[in-house]
Amino acid sequence: MENNRPNISKRVLFVDDEENILRSLKRLFMAEGYEVITALSGAEGLTLLKGTETPVIISDQRMPGMSGAEFLEKSREIAPDSVRIILTGHADVEAAIGAINRGGAYRYVSKPWNNSDLLLVVKEALDKYSLVQENRYLTELTLRQNEELKKWSTELEFYVQQHTIDLTRQNKELKKLNEKFRRNLEEIMASMSGLIELRNRTMHSHSHNVAKLAAMMAGNMGLSSQDTETIIMAAQLHDIGKIGESDIAMTKTVAELSADEMAEYMKHPVRGQAVIDCMEDLREAGILVRHHHEWYNGKGFPDRLKADSIPLGAMIISLADGFDRMLHRELRSVESALNQVKTMLTSQFDAALYAPLEKAAREFFITTTSADDCMEVELTAKDLKDGMVLSRDVRTGTGLLMLRKNTILNLKNIDTLTRGFHLDPSKSGVFVFMKKTRT
Ligand SMILES: [Fe+2]
Ligand SMILES: [Fe+2]
Repeated sequence: MENNRPNISKRVLFVDDEENILRSLKRLFMAEGYEVITALSGAEGLTLLKGTETPVIISDQRMPGMSGAEFLEKSREIAPDSVRIILTGHADVEAAIGAINRGGAYRYVSKPWNNSDLLLVVKEALDKYSLVQENRYLTELTLRQNEELKKWSTELEFYVQQHTIDLTRQNKELKKLNEKFRRNLEEIMASMSGLIELRNRTMHSHSHNVAKLAAMMAGNMGLSSQDTETIIMAAQLHDIGKIGESDIAMTKTVAELSADEMAEYMKHPVRGQAVIDCMEDLREAGILVRHHHEWYNGKGFPDRLKADSIPLGAMIISLADGFDRMLHRELRSVESALNQVKTMLTSQFDAALYAPLEKAAREFFITTTSADDCMEVELTAKDLKDGMVLSRDVRTGTGLLMLRKNTILNLKNIDTLTRGFHLDPSKSGVFVFMKKTRT
């Protein structure tokens, strides 16, 4: 902002019809550093005032033609801010007071004057003038600054609005990217867990079941969505380290393994962690994978962690894993598996996890496929229709998972499925839910 602070001159105008008086005044004031201009009449004085700033005007009252009071009043039109002083003899004091009352003069000085008094009066007049100018300058400055502030605040508001719009847009884009990233990660994980299931048919859906059951347990326990997501990722990949095991060992139960095979088997949690540790987003999940065979009593592997030193997520996966194996490897019923789990609490499993497991198991494994108004039918790929719901997982002939149970079919996934069957034909058809028709 410009600095227009007023630079006040020390110009004084003296008006008197006596030349010698003007001369002596000029000497007196010039010696004090004033710029002095003089006029022999009111008319000449008015001419001199035009176009120049003159802070102080001093006029004799008694002059031929225009009186001092008249001159001072007229000078207000040309120099309204100047401070006016009238010089007057005793006989003219009344006229001088009249001039003051009408606003033409600031004060009067009696003739003959005392030089130092007059210097003081003029100095005070100059100070008064400076004060008025300074005050005017500050008022204008304040108004200008207020205007600027108003402008800035409007611009700022506009900028903030624009910025908010930009941020909202960027946020939306980020969200989209995040969702895409998430979907990709889920697909990668499904492929990875599909790989291990491909090696061992007995593991069909095991990772999926463990992930589903662990997620439900985490939900029942009120864990945060972030912790739940980590648990789901770890559960899906918990046995990925088995990929290095021999084909024969893969088909055996733990009890059937030879000492060498057992030693290999016990490496799978650490190998699993190593496989996914290169992905930063899966590192937390990797820790849970490492510890999914720890036992509550410290007799598990690989680190023989005990009780609360085992990560909670790993204990949840351990229980979900054990429970799914009881159902699908030992072919127990849900009730029998729950009873079996009860006997292993505090040794292998954390007793605090039984209630969340029981609730999740009853919801997840007691299916609704036999609902009164639905039945399951087996169709060939070409008979599939948009909107149908899968009642079982769909796999290619060699067991590669293509679509999960409960997927709603659309033209895109029907096409994927058809191409999958063409490349790797399955002996069975595709199982879907159909509404029963009443006869
Ligand atoms: Fe395992
Ligand atoms: Fe497992």
